[in-house]
Amino acid sequence: MNHASGSIPDILFEVRSVTRRFDGLTAVDGVSLSVTHGECVSVIGPNGAGKSTLFNLLTGMDVPDEGEIRLDGEDVTGTSPERLAARGIARTFQHGRVFGNLSVLDNVLIGAHSRLALARPGWPVVGACAEVLRALVRPSALRREEEALRAEAQAIIARFGSRLSPRIDQPAHSLSYANRRRVEIARALALQPRILVLDEPTAGMNESETAEMLELILELKRDGLTILLIEHKLDLVMRLSDHVIVLDNGKKIAAGLPDDVRNDPTVIEAYLGHRHVGARAGQGEKPSEESSEEHNAARTELAATGAQQAA
Ligand SMILES: Nc1ncnc2c1ncn2[C@@H]1O[C@H](COP(=O)(O)OP(=O)(O)OP(=O)(O)O)[C@@H](O)[C@H]1O
Ligand SMILES: [Mg+2]
Repeated sequence: MNHASGSIPDILFEVRSVTRRFDGLTAVDGVSLSVTHGECVSVIGPNGAGKSTLFNLLTGMDVPDEGEIRLDGEDVTGTSPERLAARGIARTFQHGRVFGNLSVLDNVLIGAHSRLALARPGWPVVGACAEVLRALVRPSALRREEEALRAEAQAIIARFGSRLSPRIDQPAHSLSYANRRRVEIARALALQPRILVLDEPTAGMNESETAEMLELILELKRDGLTILLIEHKLDLVMRLSDHVIVLDNGKKIAAGLPDDVRNDPTVIEAYLGHRHVGARAGQGEKPSEESSEEHNAARTELAATGAQQAA
């Protein structure tokens, strides 16, 4: 979101002061962010900070109590997830969502089919009748379309190399957790999105699996895909992001370039666990040796994510 002075930011997606309350809890509290074409923006913050709730709001899974969501300059607040998908927003979920009884290929084909269905006329009955008519009258055209979609799904699966290709006909439920996450991303890619929204894509992955995921996301970024990411693994965040937004207790507490964010004392405090530090600070206690050790650990975790060490 930092642009050369004088240039006009090419904003694809914008969130203006969105708030979401659940009973007495404000899960997202007046958060704003914008994403320009081809950018990777990461949202980080401690558990319960409101990251997934924010992503639910901006993918149409939930509706904000206040605020506005804009896509290509147009207000899309309250638009359904299907219509947002048709406009190029694809997402994956924190806990992974695949069709367990379908094969890897069929899971990915669902993404490709959804894209076609979303692109076709939206009259519920007439649209369905038109599909049946097409199948009856032009079976060869349908076969060609099916073959093209299959080839496309296979090409997407091939991006995941030996992780998914040998398992293309296996039911998704038989895959490892990491592979199910890969299938979910493959399905999102089959929508040919303009923005890929990933909620903790490396959750449950070990170090080498995480490194592979980093490579894949870097590749998608190089291909020009715009990416919105939630991730707890800060090394990954620092390597991928053009811009980082930090949430804590629903509020945006920091935003900026990865380098700036990782050295921001407010961010380090948030990662330390505000209850612990806040309680001590509130009591006017001098930080103990233990707390300064933790402070250093949080600082190191953030700083060690790049070449530069925090002072
Ligand atoms: N549907 C809901 N009803 C009530 N409270 C909710 C609901 N969804 C989320 N919350 C609450 O909102 C707060 C933010 O939750 P959210 O899942 O957005 O956090 P998060 O930053 O994604 O956390 P994590 O890193 O653990 O995934 C939490 O206190 C959570 O319990
Ligand atoms: Mg979450």
